[in-house]
Amino acid sequence: MAQVKLLGLSGALRKDSTNTLLLKEAARLMGDAELTLADLNLPLYDGDLEAAEGVPASVKTLAEQIAAADAVIISTPEYNRGLPGVMKNALDWVSRVEGAPWAGKPVALMSAAAGRSGGDRGLVMLHTCMTPFAPKIVGGPEVTVAANYNEFDENGQLKGELYVKNLTTLMATLRAAI
Ligand SMILES: Cc1cc2nc3c(=O)[nH]c(=O)nc-3n(C[C@H](O)[C@H](O)[C@H](O)COP(=O)(O)O)c2cc1C
Repeated sequence: MAQVKLLGLSGALRKDSTNTLLLKEAARLMGDAELTLADLNLPLYDGDLEAAEGVPASVKTLAEQIAAADAVIISTPEYNRGLPGVMKNALDWVSRVEGAPWAGKPVALMSAAAGRSGGDRGLVMLHTCMTPFAPKIVGGPEVTVAANYNEFDENGQLKGELYVKNLTTLMATLRAAI
């Protein structure tokens, strides 16, 4: 297949986010992929805002990016054993856009977090929250990077051999699902 158009959604907004690094690593390890990072710095969902002004332009852009991508990769930390509000808010807003951009879309989920579980409780919640939208979430090795602050080198690359191996396999599975 030609170069894969990947859209990346990070559940953390900060510029040095390890989840954003993980998305970049996923694209690199997929090989021949072009990664666009989505901007999830959206207003909080507010039905009054939607009624008065419609869906914000930033949300429409996100929905269009999802629809246009060959595949979407999502990486999120867990916050207090759950899904960060940034990610849930983005999912809720996109659900208000017509056209079901997630339907049938190949998606790979992953996480990075400071705790020993690598954010897997947040990841389970993310999986659950996405089921209404019927994406094609690929199975494969779970990539949940624990002690994230210690797992990326100075170039932002994953240090652990097993993480690299599993992420490479996950991305090959995603490519095959396109
Ligand atoms: C509000 C908040 C709650 C957190 N809760 C958890 C948690 O439940 N489990 C965990 O492993 N880390 C938790 N952390 C630490 C995050 O895993 C850590 O900040 C991580 O680096 C966030 O991902 P990022 O590098 O992409 O920003 C929490 C951090 C914040 C700010």
